[in-house]
Amino acid sequence: MKARDILRLAPVMPVLVVGDPGLAEDLAHTLVDAGLPVLEITLRTAAALPVLRRIRDAVPRAVVGAGTVLDPAQWAQALDGGAMFGVSPGLTPALAAAVRRRGVAFLPGVATASEAMCAAEQGFDALKLFPAEAVGGRALLRSLHGPLPHLVFCPTGGVDAGNAGDYLALPNVACVGGSWVTPQAALAARDWPTIAALAAQAAALPRPAGSAAEGTGAAGRAGTSAAAGR
Ligand code: 3PG
Repeated sequence: MKARDILRLAPVMPVLVVGDPGLAEDLAHTLVDAGLPVLEITLRTAAALPVLRRIRDAVPRAVVGAGTVLDPAQWAQALDGGAMFGVSPGLTPALAAAVRRRGVAFLPGVATASEAMCAAEQGFDALKLFPAEAVGGRALLRSLHGPLPHLVFCPTGGVDAGNAGDYLALPNVACVGGSWVTPQAALAARDWPTIAALAAQAAALPRPAGSAAEGTGAAGRAGTSAAAGR
């Protein structure tokens, strides 16, 4: 499945920082059951790869990817760990080349029109706007839509329950990403009811206008496409 199609599976992609592999299955089941099947596991903890693997093996309804992928070595590790897609805060020529070689869906981060154009030139048409609120948020996305209508975005960074709906109303937003659905305190306490309630609220957000355009459906599993998948 291409990145664009993965983004259309749910209005919100939880950005997960998980330090304990023992939390992986319950967390993933909670989020998927609440209606959020697309999960980004950030490679920011020693537990990230084991968490990814556990979710991939034990929660088949989850579409689980690796976040904070910074270089080709990390992308290789993430794929070995079972990542079905990748997310990065930015893009380098080396990372873009590695992604092209492996042909698995990838969402590179961009913050400007030039970065979006460079990413598009390398075959990426679904991009993470990061850090969304800090670089211009909704006003920037609205401005980018004029000259770059072929690109869709997943704004992440400063997105929360209060502003997610406004982002999702933009024509070039396919979904939003954020950590608000899984507060660290609730995660540490295994407070699944709290996380389930936040996730259900997020899943009920109006489907983005961007998900209607060029709809290709959500059939199939991500991460195995032989096509560019980007
Ligand atoms: C990140 O990579 O940390 C994401 O952008 C999450 O940002 P948030 O914590 O502001 O949702």
